[in-house]
Amino acid sequence: MILILDFGSQTAHLIGRRLRQLGITSEYVNPEEALEKVKLGNYTGMIFSGGPASVYEEGAPTVEKEIFELGLPIMAICYGTQLMAQLLGGKVESGSKEYGPETFTVGQDNVFKLPQKSSKVIMSHGDTITILPESFEVIGTTSSVPFAAFQNVERKLYGLLFHPEVDHTEFGLEIMRYFGEKVFGEEVKPFLLDPKKITQDIKETVGNKKVICAVSGGVDSTVAAFLIGKAIGKRLIPVYVDSGFMREGTTDAVKYIFTKLVEADLVIVDAKKRFLDALKGVEDPEIKRKTIGKLYIDIFQEQANKHEEATFLAQGTIYSDVIESKGSKHASKIKSHHNVGGLPADMKLTLLEPVRNYYKDEVRELGRISGLPEEVVMQQPFPGPGYAIRIRGEVTQPRLDQVKQADQIVIEEVKRAGLYEQVFQCFAVMSGAFSTAVKGDGRSFAEVVAVRAYESKDIMTSQWAQLPYEVLQRISSRIVNEVPNVSRVVYDITTKPPATMEWE
Ligand code: XMP
Repeated sequence: MILILDFGSQTAHLIGRRLRQLGITSEYVNPEEALEKVKLGNYTGMIFSGGPASVYEEGAPTVEKEIFELGLPIMAICYGTQLMAQLLGGKVESGSKEYGPETFTVGQDNVFKLPQKSSKVIMSHGDTITILPESFEVIGTTSSVPFAAFQNVERKLYGLLFHPEVDHTEFGLEIMRYFGEKVFGEEVKPFLLDPKKITQDIKETVGNKKVICAVSGGVDSTVAAFLIGKAIGKRLIPVYVDSGFMREGTTDAVKYIFTKLVEADLVIVDAKKRFLDALKGVEDPEIKRKTIGKLYIDIFQEQANKHEEATFLAQGTIYSDVIESKGSKHASKIKSHHNVGGLPADMKLTLLEPVRNYYKDEVRELGRISGLPEEVVMQQPFPGPGYAIRIRGEVTQPRLDQVKQADQIVIEEVKRAGLYEQVFQCFAVMSGAFSTAVKGDGRSFAEVVAVRAYESKDIMTSQWAQLPYEVLQRISSRIVNEVPNVSRVVYDITTKPPATMEWE
């Protein structure tokens, strides 16, 4: 078993996930408790995660130096690497910022035995190591960072400034495998997802109670509801709240799923007016998410009050929602996903989240092996707060109509080009920025629509989709011509990191 020290990186949980994929078990610990734990436990090695702090900042998370003297192999990533370098006598300074994809070149020995000398890695650091600790050798570089990877084989200490755990690091899994097998001496074996174990756990947790399940027709909540349905049958009560912020056709899709695929008595609540009223005057993205989260819960509680034994609220929360909403002690809060950080503190219902520890691609696989059809598990994700978070600033009915129309155009054109299944998500955003246009020889000063399309597997990293120019042109022309009060269209070409997928 590997002990992972969680310094708060957004991708810390992916380290365990990659190890799990390789059939290696791991445990997480806060760095402050690591020394004590590692001395007690039976670990083959440690991994230091990245984190949002700077090592020279007051109160930055750290470890006792003794941890490097135990003789256990340590693989350090990003912040963890900077911390190791600093504690062992090297120097870390602000500078050589790298956020996003970089080219990593391995040294002569090609330590990780990668199939090529140069490959793409994901970096996300503002500080860099300017002096290596004594007796460490460099094993890889990028164009702006000379110490992108280094090691001290004798002391079994390894530092990587990039993130091997993320999907967009080209040979990330191979590098994790190298550490698992060669450095930690673990046996690598295939890992299988186990929906039966999940349904068994649900049965035990729920007992003879009923479960109100928040459903949106999306992958995560459908997989969660499907597994709960298998576990407790008709004691599952799926509730679809029509907030007015969902895509065209969502209500029909939900009706189909919860009559044809899952046998349950679906409840549909029309709450369009309540949501618009609640968001009147709200511009701040965090307040918006919290307002939406609270209203959802109020409505689910109202539904639960109608069923005496309904004490659980099930949601399709997945791990990327959790981590962005500040999922561990040292993690930063990026945004309050409405179903995690947006939940009110005084909620009466007990949460049931069967897929909370899984990533998007794993949830899809769980759905697939449990028997859900491909068109359900492979559909594009759509955020719970819906179009409300694709309108930068206040949500009003006219702006809601604009974003829906623009979004529909993006989807139609990407589908028409046969690219809809290849992108992870594609959508339009009312950017809140205004610009000048000439329409019919007259001046117009109207809103800028941003179009975003990207590829991703697990949501934690993404690459913007290189849509053909003619598709972009059609999208742009149609939006400025068909959607009222739009002056121009821009295409968002930012990777995640640093940009999140949604604008708010
Ligand atoms: P971000 O913008 O966080 O998006 O990079 C990652 C994925 O999550 C979706 N998203 C949400 N989903 N509630 C949800 O259910 C939310 O509050 C929320 N915010 C973002 C987003 O569409 C993308 O797939």
